Amino acid sequence: MLKTHYCGDLREADEGADVVLAGWVHRRRDHGGLIFIDLRDSRGIVQAVFHPKDAPEAHAVASEARNEYVLQVRGKVRHRRPGTENAALPTGAIEVGAERAKVLNPAKTPPFYINEESDVSEVQRLRYRYLDLRRERMRDNIVLRHQIAQKIRRFLSERNFIEIETPVLANPTPEGSRDYLVPSRLNPGNFYALPQSPQQFKQLLMVAGFERYFQIAKCYRDEDLRADRQPEFTQLDLEMSFVEQEDILQLIEQLYVEIGRELRPGLRIPAPFPRLTYEEAMRRFGSDKPDLRYGLELVHLTNAVRGTQFMVFKSAVDSGGSVEGICVPGGAAFARKEIDALTATVQTYGAKGLVSVAYLAEPAMATEDDVRSPVMKFLGLDLARSLGKIAGAKSGDLLLVVAGLGGRPSKEPGSAGRVKPALDALRRALAAKLALADPDTLQFCWILEFPLFEWSDEDERFYSVTHPFTAPVDADLATFASDPAAAHSKSHDLTCNGQEIGGGSIRIHQREMQADAFRALRLSEEETRERFSHMLEAFEFGAPPHGGIAMGLDRTAALFAQDDDIREVIAFPKTKSASDPMTGAPLPVDPAQLDELGLRLKEP
Ligand code: AMO
Repeated sequence: MLKTHYCGDLREADEGADVVLAGWVHRRRDHGGLIFIDLRDSRGIVQAVFHPKDAPEAHAVASEARNEYVLQVRGKVRHRRPGTENAALPTGAIEVGAERAKVLNPAKTPPFYINEESDVSEVQRLRYRYLDLRRERMRDNIVLRHQIAQKIRRFLSERNFIEIETPVLANPTPEGSRDYLVPSRLNPGNFYALPQSPQQFKQLLMVAGFERYFQIAKCYRDEDLRADRQPEFTQLDLEMSFVEQEDILQLIEQLYVEIGRELRPGLRIPAPFPRLTYEEAMRRFGSDKPDLRYGLELVHLTNAVRGTQFMVFKSAVDSGGSVEGICVPGGAAFARKEIDALTATVQTYGAKGLVSVAYLAEPAMATEDDVRSPVMKFLGLDLARSLGKIAGAKSGDLLLVVAGLGGRPSKEPGSAGRVKPALDALRRALAAKLALADPDTLQFCWILEFPLFEWSDEDERFYSVTHPFTAPVDADLATFASDPAAAHSKSHDLTCNGQEIGGGSIRIHQREMQADAFRALRLSEEETRERFSHMLEAFEFGAPPHGGIAMGLDRTAALFAQDDDIREVIAFPKTKSASDPMTGAPLPVDPAQLDELGLRLKEP
C-alpha cells in the first residue's frame, strides 16, 4: 500500500505514530510560513502541517499543490496546539507534522467546489459524477446505501433466505410498464426484455422449493421519469412459501425498524406501522400513499350540500360526483393571495376551483359577521354553519372545499373524478406551507387490499392494478373472474411520508385460478399461451402457496439519507430524459452492428 493509515481514521490514540498518508488536497491554507493542507481520503479528513524550516522539501511540494491534487505525505501524528483543535472534525484533536511529501498526480481546477456545498446544475454534476461523488454528502449517501444493503443481507440470511440471481436477459411482458428490449443476434427478429422486476422468476423459485428467496435486483422500466423514478433502479426483492400476508408485513417492518435503529438512530420510526385499506386511505386522505405525519383529513360534505342551489356544489351532486374539503386549523388568517396559490395548486391537479369558508367563531354560534367566504351569498349562513360543524372547524379555522363531477376518473384536468388527487395535492401543499411534517420522522404505513383490477376506457378492458399473479382476497375468490370491477387483492404496499416504498402480495398458486385471472384481463388464449404458459405449466407441478414483496432500494436509501431525490443515493443515475451526460449514453451505433442484429432504423 502507498499508505499506512486512512486520513479520517487518525485519533488522539495515534499520537506519536509515524504514518504515511495518501489522498486528495481538500483545502490548502498558506500562512506565509506554515502551510496547512486538509488531506482527504475515503474515510475522512486530517490536517497536515508543512514547516518551511523543519521540512523544506515537503514544504515546497505543499506550496505547489492545489485543490484535488493527489498527495502522499509522510509524517508524525501530534496533538494540535491548545486552542486550535477542531471539534467539528473527528480527527480535529490531532494533526500530522509532515516530513516528506510527493505529488502522486496533479489535478485540473474542478468545475465546481468539492469542499463545500454549492449550487451546481444537474447536468454538470452528472457530467463529472466522479467529482460529485467526492463531495462529503454524496460519499456519506453511498456509504449509507452500502450499509443498508449489508444489513438487509445479514438480516435475511439469518432467517434462512437464500440470495439467488435471476436473468437480466428475460422475456418481454405485455402487462406493466414499457419494456427495454434487447435484440437477439442468434434469433433474428426476436427480443429479450430487461426485467421490470424478477416477479416470474421468484415465483418459479418457490415452485423450485427454495421457500425463502431474496435478491438485490436491478430492474428496468421505460417510463416517464421523476424525482423518485429512474429507468434502471434497484429492488430488494423477496418471496416466501407457506406464508400469510401477516408474516411478510412483520418481516419487513422489523427489517426497516432495525435499519433505522442501527444506521440512523436520530430518526423517529413509529412502530407498529399503522395499516389502512386502500379504500380507507382514499376516503380519509385522497391518496394510496398518504403522509401520516400530519392530520388534515378529508371531510365529506356531499350529503350536507344536497339540495343547495349553489351551482358549483349542485352540478357535482347532480352528476353523482362529490364535494369534499379540508379544514385548516388557524387558516382563517390566510391572505387572499395565499388562498389563490392553493387554488392554483388544486387546479393543476384537475379541480375547477377551491371554495373557501373562514370561521371567526365556532360554526354553531357563528353569525353572518363570523363567516367569510367569497361565495357566502350563494351558500347562505345555514349551510356555511353546517359545513363548518361537519368539518369540526373551530374559531379561526378555514374550510377549503373541492367539488368534482361524477363519472369515471380521468387523467384530463378539470374532468370527472379529480376530487381526491386535488385534495391530496392540497393536503401536501398545506402541510408544506404550515411545516406540519416532522423531517426527522419516518412514518411508515401499510396500504392493504387494493382493487385487483382497474378498467381502462381507452382500451376497453381491465388491467391488473399490481400484476396478474396477485391473489384476490378470500371473500372475492368465487366472484373475481365474473365481477372483476368489485374484486380486491391480497396486496400490501409499504408507504412512508407520502411515498410508495414497496409493494407485493400473496400470489395465485393454482393453475385454474391463474387462467381465470388472465381471462378477466381479456388476454387471448394465444397471448396467454405465448407469454405465460411457463407459469401456468409450473403451477401444475406442485406450486406451494407463496407471497412476497419488493422494496425500492433507491427510495429506501433516500428515505434514510433524508433526501427527496433518489439520484442522490445512486452512484451513476440518469437525467430526467434517461441519458447519461458522462458517457453520452444512449448513443447511435454502427450500421454494421445493426445489420448483424437484423435491424434497420426507420427514417425519422
Ligand atoms: P412494484 O412495481 O410496486 O412491484 O415495485 C416495487 C417497488 O420498486 C420501486 N420502484 C421504483 N424505484 C425507482 N424507480 C422506478 N422506476 C421504480 N419503479 C418501482 C418502488 C416500488 O414500490 N414484482 C412486484 C413486487 C411483488 O409483487 O413482489 C413489483 O415490482 O419503491
